Amino acid sequence: MVAARITVNGKETRISPAPAHTTVLDFLRERGLTGTKEGCAEGECGACSVLVARPGVDRPTDWVAVNACLVPVAALDGQEVVTSEGLATAGASGTPAVLHPVQEEMAVRGGSQCGFCTPGFICSMASEFYRPDRCAHADPADGSVPAEGSGSEHGPNGFDLHALSGNLCRCTGYRPIRDAAYAVGMPTEDDPLAQRRDQSPPGPAATAYTQDDSAFLRPGTLADAVRLLRERPDAVVVAGSTDWGVEVNIRSRRANCVVAVDRLPELRGLHVGSDHIEIGAAQTLTEIERRLGGAVPLLAELFPQFASRLIRNSATLGGNLGTGSPIGDSPPVLLALEASLVLADADGEREVALCDYFTGYRQSVRLPGELIRAVRVPLPLSPVTAFHKIAKRRFDDISSVAVAFALDIEDGTVRKARIGLGGVAATPIRALATEAALEGEPWTERTAEAAARVLRAEGTPMDDHRASAGYRTAMLGQSLLKLYARTTEAVPS
Ligand code: FES
Ligand code: FES
Repeated sequence: MVAARITVNGKETRISPAPAHTTVLDFLRERGLTGTKEGCAEGECGACSVLVARPGVDRPTDWVAVNACLVPVAALDGQEVVTSEGLATAGASGTPAVLHPVQEEMAVRGGSQCGFCTPGFICSMASEFYRPDRCAHADPADGSVPAEGSGSEHGPNGFDLHALSGNLCRCTGYRPIRDAAYAVGMPTEDDPLAQRRDQSPPGPAATAYTQDDSAFLRPGTLADAVRLLRERPDAVVVAGSTDWGVEVNIRSRRANCVVAVDRLPELRGLHVGSDHIEIGAAQTLTEIERRLGGAVPLLAELFPQFASRLIRNSATLGGNLGTGSPIGDSPPVLLALEASLVLADADGEREVALCDYFTGYRQSVRLPGELIRAVRVPLPLSPVTAFHKIAKRRFDDISSVAVAFALDIEDGTVRKARIGLGGVAATPIRALATEAALEGEPWTERTAEAAARVLRAEGTPMDDHRASAGYRTAMLGQSLLKLYARTTEAVPS
């Protein structure tokens, strides 16, 4: 096996002798690339953002911004990384380097004061700068920005401000940063990173990186992965490492063996069939969002509320379901969609309805050695859907309560109701009593109020630092009333 290597700013570097748990952030900083900063070490500030060449949605390669504090450097064996230091172009001898367009705009518009957050903002901005489907809505030269309160969070240059939702600045204030984001133009034809998008990214390297007594392993196929997991039941399985990276950094957890499954081809499909949509468990949330293009409205409503763009660039549905958290954002939505999971092990596959998957706090029917290969969403979809995430912040927060609805309403009557709940029990649950209270009833204010009373009694909400049980209970009922209010204009009662 070839020694593990990573290409940083065009220069190939051996990963050894870094310990197997070493993050990309620590690896870069130990090699003098100190533009990449550590703020929180848990994926919440973006100071560590770097660009990785990944398979593209619309072009062979996308430059994807990720949190370097969460990703083990061994996970990028064979991959290409660009840091803030690699964005500027070297000047001719004796002349200063030429700033990258996003660096230039941040500098001239006062987007940086102490500068601690700036390299992370720059990398997140650069990823959006190179997004192939970004297109200007209007002439960016007129410098206009959407009016305050207009609700638009795209600049006239097509820059999606949510690309920066995972980056925090403690001193500049966000207005000049937004001004810089909305002022960047389009990549020029001779831009080397823009040109790089037209060639394929490096393929996934089958990695067996061992240092001291710890191993980071990346099997090449699903068959290899499940065989390995049978041999190593102690292994920690990771995809984007957005959860495991926090455990390593904040709780100092270490594993003898980490197995990466995020590049397994069998987990990377996305297929829309006649009776279901199958989403590979290792598709990142950003990839699913762009590939589905709104085809599943409930998922489209979920994605902007799921952490930040930086996290969604690495996080997967398989990971969110695999951790079994009762406050994961995707389970309520997938429960409302009546999704099922395809579980694979060395003996084959089985399909389990998501409503039968969770068995207790962070526990499920998934057996040791089994992997979530795919998520299946049955078709047709219910036409009336909503996802209400109640949290202290609008974006990039953990929910206090989450409610997802999927209703079939025909001729003013609720024919079918599926409701997924998060944050009100030890596991994500279906609101079965409320579903029964709705089905067969006219979709009227009276029905909604009666069903809201039932919904308030679902689950066993508790008091914790995010919310009281009483607040959670109240929010459950309100969410159904809100859905009713939103739909009554469209659906005659
Ligand atoms: Fe804060 Fe990585 S250091 S997100
Ligand atoms: Fe100081 Fe952003 S410029 S933290």
